[in-house]
Amino acid sequence: MKLHHIIEAQQFDVPTLDKLFEITEKMEKVVAQGGISDYHNRIMSTLFYEPSTRTRFSFETAMHRLGGRVISTENAREFSSVSKGETLEDTIRILNGYADVIVMRHNEVGAARRAAAVSTVPVINAGDGAGQHPTQALLDLYTIRKEIGKINGLRIAMVGDLAQGRTVRSLAYLLSKYQGVKMYFVAPQLLRMKEDILEHLRQRNVEYLEEAELAKVLPEVDVVYQTRIQKERFGDRIADYEKCRGVYVIDESCLRLMRPDSIIMHPLPRLDEIRMEVDNDRRAAYFRQAQNGLYVRMALLSQVLS
Ligand code: CP
Repeated sequence: MKLHHIIEAQQFDVPTLDKLFEITEKMEKVVAQGGISDYHNRIMSTLFYEPSTRTRFSFETAMHRLGGRVISTENAREFSSVSKGETLEDTIRILNGYADVIVMRHNEVGAARRAAAVSTVPVINAGDGAGQHPTQALLDLYTIRKEIGKINGLRIAMVGDLAQGRTVRSLAYLLSKYQGVKMYFVAPQLLRMKEDILEHLRQRNVEYLEEAELAKVLPEVDVVYQTRIQKERFGDRIADYEKCRGVYVIDESCLRLMRPDSIIMHPLPRLDEIRMEVDNDRRAAYFRQAQNGLYVRMALLSQVLS
């Protein structure tokens, strides 16, 4: 397997995913043994124009666990020369002289593609606005495979902010590569899954259903993938945000409707869309999911740097 830029979920095929997850399993063992030093002379730059906890820290931990080094800005809009008017393209050209891989989160859809177009070193999209978050989808898929034991034939409900959520978009693209998957989209009317994804699913003959009532879907699915209503993407449309928040909440009553062998996932951060009381249930997989991000990102870095 040879990876270079990682920009969107569509670029992965199933054999590549199988290989990546095989390497990821090895990385879990490597971490348990204290890490490796194979990448001691390699440098990763994390260039984040939007806030992050999991993605940036897990990428940085992954590079440290591989023995590499990290140069970083967690607020590029304020703490890089972007604040003086430097373009994204010039910033990337400069980092090409310093780092062996660039992990970038940006507020604009398509920014990762623009960066990759001028970069001589691999660019990894760590989220581009409401566009995609491919490495999140990879860790989501790895989690499903590990927890449920299969991806073919999976029944998954994606819930919440499906219009602005980049994680569900990337995950839908990845799942569409497998056989017999059925997706249920449960969202407020204003935040329905966008037509480009629905069209992609129709073209690939992937079964999907848009459903307003969460309680109807819960007994049907292997995975409930809850998402946060993303206030920051509403701008000044506060009334619209207020209409959408709190519509779908996972609580104890939902647990009673779910199958005993199903799981709840969430890319995090969460606000109140999964009640704390759910955390102690074995089916709450979201913290294990975040942990898997470390192993998947170690596997990805090992491949783009080899
Ligand atoms: N899931 C995710 O992307 O989390 P962060 O925004 O904290 O990186």
